[in-house]
Amino acid sequence: MPEECADAQVEAALETLARRVEDCLFGCLRAPGVPEGLLAAMEYSLRAGGKRLRPALCLISARACSEETRSGEACSDGGCFGEEAERAVLLFACALECIHTYSLIHDDLPAMDNDDFRRGMPSNHKKFGEASAILAGDGLLTDAFALMTRCADAGLPATRVLRAVGATARAAGSAGMVGGQFLDMLYTGDVEVRLEELAAMQAMKTGAMLRLSCEAGALLSGAGPEKTAALASYGEALGAAFQIADDILDVTGDPVLLGKGVGKDAAARKCTYPALLGLEKSRIEAERRAKQAVAALEGFSGENAALLKGLAAYIVSRAR
Ligand code: IPE
Ligand code: IPE
Ligand code: MG
Ligand code: MG
Ligand code: MG
Repeated sequence: MPEECADAQVEAALETLARRVEDCLFGCLRAPGVPEGLLAAMEYSLRAGGKRLRPALCLISARACSEETRSGEACSDGGCFGEEAERAVLLFACALECIHTYSLIHDDLPAMDNDDFRRGMPSNHKKFGEASAILAGDGLLTDAFALMTRCADAGLPATRVLRAVGATARAAGSAGMVGGQFLDMLYTGDVEVRLEELAAMQAMKTGAMLRLSCEAGALLSGAGPEKTAALASYGEALGAAFQIADDILDVTGDPVLLGKGVGKDAAARKCTYPALLGLEKSRIEAERRAKQAVAALEGFSGENAALLKGLAAYIVSRAR
């Protein structure tokens, strides 16, 4: 078995996982009492598409840890990971996609990046208006936490779920993604930002949720602290590489493939890697962080670890 999957294998694996996630995702927020128009706005952005990277990372990380567990090491809390647990992790993975989708809806608002296209469609506020877009985001974020708690009903030990929910709240919150988005806005326009500040901002706005997606998979699978920390380090480095690649794609990418506008960062005078370092040095930095991600999984073997390692290279070379 190869130690690291090639780009085509990664793409195929992500496609398969995306379909699995979508089977669970569409409809998972339907509940009595949700106003029809609000549900329509929430589901519009969920259904618009997207790579489903965060739920995929959560699922692959859980599988990678359970693969390791099967090969000898006991679960830290005495539980085990099977088909039923995988279905429960899928619920959690869908919740992560809801949080991510909320962040995109709010990111596109006129008060933030003011973007008209997302996932190949008019952005949420363009379709439904600003008030509905804000509330659709609020709904997705809040309902995601209700969805996460359903993992315990679906058979996962409550202590594992509680740890993963707490970690998710921290990663999505003011010291994580929301804080990073705040700094992103602060660093826009006529401001001088140092490279360390840019890296820290991106680690918060994007890295925190990618790190968490991997960490949550490990926690839910019952992995011990060492394996969980390794997956978290992998996700952190991957998140850095991912956002640098996103910055580069805003300069060099194809809007049709990306499903969103390009050239917007420079026009808005956003602080990005290409703005600070130029394209070539940005590429080198993205590759360095991707290699760091691979190195964090040194102690892992098996097909899911190989997929995670391949994914690190893929997200730097991706066109979408
Ligand atoms: C876009 O995320 C926002 C960033 C953190 C750069 P993705 O590139 O994962 O967007 P989708 O989910 O595929 O639409
Ligand atoms: C957004 O970063 C990060 C989020 C937390 C949503 P960007 O503003 O660069 O994402 P895109 O380029 O609009 O997808
Ligand atoms: Mg933004
Ligand atoms: Mg944006
Ligand atoms: Mg961007």
